[in-house]
Amino acid sequence: MAFAGTGKIWMNGKMVDWSDAKIHVASHVIHYGSGVFEGARCYDTKKGPAVLRLDSHVARLLASAKIYRMDAPYTQAQLETAILDTIRVNNFKACYIRPLMYRGYNALGVNPLPCPVDVAIMVWEWGAYLGADALDKGVDVCISSWNRAAPNTFPAMSKTSGNYANAALIRMEAESNGYSEGIALDTFGYVSEGSGENVFVVRNGEIYTPPLSASILPGITREMIIQVAGDLGYRMREENVPREMLYIADELFFAGTAVEITPVRSVDKITVGNGRRGPITEAIQRRFLSVINGDSPDTHGWLTYLDQTGSRPEPVAAGTKAR
Ligand SMILES: Cc1ncc(COP(=O)(O)O)c(C=O)c1O
Repeated sequence: MAFAGTGKIWMNGKMVDWSDAKIHVASHVIHYGSGVFEGARCYDTKKGPAVLRLDSHVARLLASAKIYRMDAPYTQAQLETAILDTIRVNNFKACYIRPLMYRGYNALGVNPLPCPVDVAIMVWEWGAYLGADALDKGVDVCISSWNRAAPNTFPAMSKTSGNYANAALIRMEAESNGYSEGIALDTFGYVSEGSGENVFVVRNGEIYTPPLSASILPGITREMIIQVAGDLGYRMREENVPREMLYIADELFFAGTAVEITPVRSVDKITVGNGRRGPITEAIQRRFLSVINGDSPDTHGWLTYLDQTGSRPEPVAAGTKAR
């Protein structure tokens, strides 16, 4: 995907033309990966454009920053507003959203603390991450020869730019061997996650997903799937998943903002189930899509509408009464 290179990017409180949204090569983040970021999506629902889990994405951004001792220069509410403003100014109904908080230009020692904390928000159109057919037909994946970072090395709960050096190794290896994606194990040999998505396994009618202790990013889609699975009456087990369970799974799927819910049809060339999207994956996918399309009620309060008429009240001007 090449960027169209148009529109506006929010940088430290100002809307800047895409072509002018530049940082200095001496910025700390370029040298040491000292940024934290988010990936969220805005959907064109039947009730108008809405951002999925806006509050949770901003909260995770701030948590990622806190782990790295970054004092966020904007509050949760300011960042939520800035994200909505950036989508509006770019006239998108549906888009991918990338807020980024990074250590900027001041000094180039390893210690990031002398460097300012800068913030940018980009939005762009981004379709199916693993290809147009993936959501329906599924993808072929491998177990990566790269592990996820060990506990107490690179904090997995922080969505940090530097962590994606590991993700890139997983992804490059998978693609160069002809797979769509790689699943990494943690350093104990249990299943962790894909390079940019969490993993769910269905076996004998129950759904398994690795726990936070398996070096995973606490995915917001993962959290929604746990809720949807509960709503649909499935038993969800957050526990260590041995590698071989992927080979004998009835169904397997990825979950993440970019991939949404994508079935996996083979692992290391071993067919998962009957090699097609399974019934439980489909049921969860359908329920998830019907909420984000606005076909089912948003009972969990996941959507923030751009026109603010959906899950949030319109702002009331001073001196007027709320309707
Ligand atoms: C490493 C990794 N795991 C899991 C996920 C899924 O997280 P979410 O559902 O919040 O997008 C992502 C995507 O951000 C990711 O990069």
